[in-house]
Amino acid sequence: DASDKGGWSSFMAKEINEQADAVGNTLRGRISSAGVEIPELTALGDDRLREIDRIIIIACGTASYAGHVGSYAIEQWARVPVEVQLSHEFRYRDPVLSDRTLVISVSQSGETMDTLMAVKYAIERGVTTISVCNTQSATIPRESDAAVYTHAGPEVAVASTKAFVAQITAIYLIGLHLARVRGTFSAEEQTRAVEQFEALPAKVAEAIETRDQIAQLAHWMADTRSVLFLGRHVGYPIALEGALKLKEIAYIHAEGFAAGELKHGPIALIDHGQPVFVLVPSPRTSPIMHSKVVSNIQEIRARGARVIAVVEKGDTAVLPYADDVVRLPLADTLFEPLLQVIPLQWFALELSTAKGLDVDQPRNLAKSVTVE
Ligand code: G6P
Repeated sequence: DASDKGGWSSFMAKEINEQADAVGNTLRGRISSAGVEIPELTALGDDRLREIDRIIIIACGTASYAGHVGSYAIEQWARVPVEVQLSHEFRYRDPVLSDRTLVISVSQSGETMDTLMAVKYAIERGVTTISVCNTQSATIPRESDAAVYTHAGPEVAVASTKAFVAQITAIYLIGLHLARVRGTFSAEEQTRAVEQFEALPAKVAEAIETRDQIAQLAHWMADTRSVLFLGRHVGYPIALEGALKLKEIAYIHAEGFAAGELKHGPIALIDHGQPVFVLVPSPRTSPIMHSKVVSNIQEIRARGARVIAVVEKGDTAVLPYADDVVRLPLADTLFEPLLQVIPLQWFALELSTAKGLDVDQPRNLAKSVTVE
């Protein structure tokens, strides 16, 4: 019903616009100047968390990309090896599991059958399970040893947006909680991360303001048949997510690549006028990765790509090579994905709208897939 959309043209537009609150509400009660503490994890017992020697994140779709982003942060902060597996692949590979393995499932609905079956499989093997979920008392959090809820509020549009940023937030909090318990993080580093988090909702609100610029771009590109996305490090799963969003609601062929992989194949796809979104890491907090991505931009531009560079404000290095530049607030490298994804969400929404499609109810897709 239109009134539920609060004046927005679609649920997806409303939900993209609610992302500052989705992040802020997910942080509430879990961060303070003393650092990060998630009460639901304290209940698991610190000894159990100290003994973990491997983490596997399981999820499907957009939630798996949130897990992929989160894997970089947990590994960096808590110094535990983390891998991400799609729920439906996890069970059938006969995974190596032990009582020191931690499985973190990520699911907006908490009812995705593939993820539920993977969680049950892990439980049967004596693995500790944590559920990151947006739906109170859903099946997956009820089955798991601990639930860390995301507080994004109900998500109605099939394409996930605010749940995604809330999932990254929750996984990061788990990473910081583990880092504190395991003593892998100095008090100074904790403070820095807490400061980044506290500043985040306002930055998310600013990133949401990119809509008009992106709408213009989408309007010009309404006939585009293929779009590529490039990212590095945490920008890589954001490239994958940007491509997934376009497939889901604009029915356009789209692919995301790790920028470093370009020369191993994808660069052959670059032809005159091929649109490529490039997620450029911060030159302040990742100078080496930044210069590598700028070289990638030069390489694809020389082959005719139409480059849309997503950069932090003040980064002028890409200006000579980019056709369009989308500017975002400054954030440390690990916090950039929470901002970078927003213009990509708008792009999918605006392109879908420009093509006259139903943004909220794309063909052939369901909000929650409750069959295997
Ligand atoms: C469906 C939805 C996606 C979602 C995926 C996982 O495919 O269309 O938007 O990312 O399921 O859903 P979950 O509820 O487990 O996060």
